[in-house]
Amino acid sequence: MNEAILGKANSDIVKTLNNTDNEELIGKNFYFERRAFNLKQIRPRKINFKFHNDIPKLWLGNSIVLTHFFNGLNLYLPVFESSIARVIQEYSKNVQDKNLRQQIYGFIGQEKSHAQTHHKYNQILVAQGYNIEGYLKLAKFFFVDVLEKTLGAKISLATVAGFEHLTVLLTDIVLNQNIMKNATPIMKELWEWHAAEEVEHKNIAFELLQTVDNSYWLRILGLFLGAIILIFFSFYGMFILALQEKNFFSSKTVVDLYKLLLGENKLILKGFKVFLQYFKLNIVSLHNNYIPLAEQVFNH
Ligand SMILES: [Fe+2]
Ligand SMILES: [Fe+2]
Repeated sequence: MNEAILGKANSDIVKTLNNTDNEELIGKNFYFERRAFNLKQIRPRKINFKFHNDIPKLWLGNSIVLTHFFNGLNLYLPVFESSIARVIQEYSKNVQDKNLRQQIYGFIGQEKSHAQTHHKYNQILVAQGYNIEGYLKLAKFFFVDVLEKTLGAKISLATVAGFEHLTVLLTDIVLNQNIMKNATPIMKELWEWHAAEEVEHKNIAFELLQTVDNSYWLRILGLFLGAIILIFFSFYGMFILALQEKNFFSSKTVVDLYKLLLGENKLILKGFKVFLQYFKLNIVSLHNNYIPLAEQVFNH
């Protein structure tokens, strides 16, 4: 594709992505509505994320590893979170408890808005020249054909509940470890908004699973599938993007990868602890520890 055509394609993408009318409602300088954190009334917040393709390719501390770790997550969240919304919607019809049903609708709304926003950012990755087509095809095949259609609704629901439990790792690294401190502002806001809403809807998928089937082994199967998704799709995404960087093979890559997995951020150790927590019979959501940090996101 020559440059003139690529330039036009890029500006078309930017135009489409700017197509939002929430600016007046949220305030010009905000990317999302500052509605107070409320566990009892989950609702999606109005958003106003306008991604431009002048976002630096290495938007997180100029680090290939850190940037593409989050970009890797970004790649599959649109298809997975859309799938989450469909699975939960299917089961919500049979929920008798009015309050839980209301909370479920709020949860679906939040996941849909996460999916749409990460989809917009994926388009920027394409405009920046990354080849993600094969990855997206594989993700669609896995989440739609394998998970939803082949494994079926109940295993999908258990997987969603397991994955939602594991999202506490995102909350920890983004809100507690403040990994976004050197990020481009819009990307910092994107991940903080997402992490804080994950805290807000922390228990909903698990509560729904308990009303559908409270089998312990179904819960554990969901945990294993959720963990496989998190590990495989995040790191595969990270590596296919990172390998497209000229400077991938450098000492900085090795140091940053060590810091992320074993050093400062301790992702492996923390991941292991979070994983084991889900085996407890009387499980208490680890997200509870992060409520004050999530409250701050929506108050500042
Ligand atoms: Fe989400
Ligand atoms: Fe979630």
